[in-house]
Amino acid sequence: MKELFDKTLAEVIKLHQSTKIVREFADFPDDFEWQELPRHQISGARLMAQDKSLETDTYQSLRDTFIALWQEANWRETYRDTNIGEDFLSRFACYEFFGHEGHFHTKKMRGFLLYSNANLYYPWHHHPAEELYFIIAGEASFATEGNEPKLLKPGDTVFHAGNQPHNMQTHDKGVLAYVLWRNEFNIAPVLTDRLN
Ligand SMILES: [Fe+2]
Repeated sequence: MKELFDKTLAEVIKLHQSTKIVREFADFPDDFEWQELPRHQISGARLMAQDKSLETDTYQSLRDTFIALWQEANWRETYRDTNIGEDFLSRFACYEFFGHEGHFHTKKMRGFLLYSNANLYYPWHHHPAEELYFIIAGEASFATEGNEPKLLKPGDTVFHAGNQPHNMQTHDKGVLAYVLWRNEFNIAPVLTDRLN
């Protein structure tokens, strides 16, 4: 199983080397230590593995290696105890690939894989960490407070400042994104109640 994670890590490193905006977001950690995490399966992960709408030209190998890990990952349930609703909980999925709670341990930054099924709204939320989304496959509209939503496709990125509320809406395709957190990354996201 670790082999599959190592293969994915190699693809992630390629992305950092080849993509200026990703490379410049933060120095890629050089202190990874493999940590054995339990598999934790959620329904959104299965939807991701079956999703034929996750199209991408340039990032096929990155997409495929992340999807191949769908049964191995320690998927999170960040919003389980909120009022976000069952539809979101059953069709959204995210896990920490590297970070202090990730499959590769580091305290320098955090990197997540995020999936949303089609026609799903991820409500306004915020967190102190600064964040970069990189779209691997599919597409979604991203909004930050005060700005119109923007449709992002494979290779596109969006930056969220610390505690800047943002949301995401998928349309007729799902989306697969690689998400980086830097700076105050120990605090989990919360829903921005005043906007929802
Ligand atoms: Fe975020």
